[in-house]
Amino acid sequence: MKNLLITGGAGFIGSHVVRLFVNKYSNYKIINLDLLTYAGNLENIKDIENADNYKFVKGDICDAEFILELFQKENITDVIHLAAESHVDRSISDPFSFVKTNVFGTVTLLNAAAKCWKKNLSNHIFYHVSTDEVYGSLGEEGFFLESTPYDPQSPYSASKASSDHFVRAWANTYNLQVKISNCSNNYGPNQFPEKLLPLMINNIKNNKPLPVYGQGENIRDWLFVVDHARAIDDIFHMGNIGETYNVGGFNEWKNIDIVKLLCTLMDKKLGRPEGESAKLITYVTDRAGHDHRYAIDASKIKNELGWEPSLQFEEGMKKTVDWYLEHPNWLEHVTSGQYKDYYKKTYLVK
Ligand code: NAD
Ligand code: TYD
Repeated sequence: MKNLLITGGAGFIGSHVVRLFVNKYSNYKIINLDLLTYAGNLENIKDIENADNYKFVKGDICDAEFILELFQKENITDVIHLAAESHVDRSISDPFSFVKTNVFGTVTLLNAAAKCWKKNLSNHIFYHVSTDEVYGSLGEEGFFLESTPYDPQSPYSASKASSDHFVRAWANTYNLQVKISNCSNNYGPNQFPEKLLPLMINNIKNNKPLPVYGQGENIRDWLFVVDHARAIDDIFHMGNIGETYNVGGFNEWKNIDIVKLLCTLMDKKLGRPEGESAKLITYVTDRAGHDHRYAIDASKIKNELGWEPSLQFEEGMKKTVDWYLEHPNWLEHVTSGQYKDYYKKTYLVK
């Protein structure tokens, strides 16, 4: 029996993790803590909201008093921490909210965990979900290993790197049993359309320009979000205490190639003549300090825990496109209001 606190469970990846754990572990109580920022959406987890082993709590990971009370009231036994500010472009225009949520928020959770679990630390796990962006930017060669030195380049990745360091400091200083994973770019249903793929899907659908930064030569490694949730399950249950696991899709793409693939898929889906959507591609001013390439070597998790991606990329992309086209209301809700202001500020000043 565990009372498992999952933070950020109304967001993109968190919602898939919450769903997997609620459905798979009926003997756990899953407490989903989320502040419901612009990126958090209870519609993402509507299908499990009435499950007996599930509870949603709205709250801020930076509120120390509230977090301590929550740990005590719900007798939290373990944590999987995903809540964060997660978008690089926003971190460039508003770095302080990244420091606050990603650094201060993580330390607040660590502090509450160490305090509440100190009598029996060996019964509890604090699992921190992080990103491959902490390792910095690669040239054309090489891969990120778990031993690659941290070299974050954006305010987002610097805040995540900092939070990873704090997690390790709590393991070393307070003997907290921690695990960390650093994953590559996720894609799939429920991703907020500020990130590359859902933004492009939404724009193709609405015949709007497709803003490709720079020359579109930057490279990312893409993983279907449900496969990341499976990796989190494996690491939480089978990963070694104190260890880091890199998670990736063995699937590198140049941005321009992935956008062209999406255009082809969507031409077919929308019944447009071949090549029609690609005419929307528009090269725009590059992101400041744009990391050139991320590439994960995920052999540790594959060899030690037997995890590997289950879905081929084209199949995952088709599923993703289908999901967005079949959920116009979801897109409509998340792209009204604040999103319009964000879009104007980000793309019209570039
Ligand atoms: P997201 O932005 O979709 O969701 C973040 C969630 O955190 C939202 O539901 C939001 O409401 C919540 N949140 C934000 N501030 C909060 C606060 N102060 N208190 C409580 N809740 C708060 O992010 P995501 O893409 O699902 O990423 C989840 C985690 O995975 C992050 O830690 C991110 O760094 C990491 N990650 C993401 C990717 C990716 O490709 N998206 C890849 C690797 C790692
Ligand atoms: P993004 O989804 O923001 O993820 P990250 O920056 O964390 O990797 O962006 C993925 C890549 O796509 C990145 O190289 C930036 C690029 N990009 C564009 O070219 N245009 C866009 O409108 C966005 C949002 C991203």
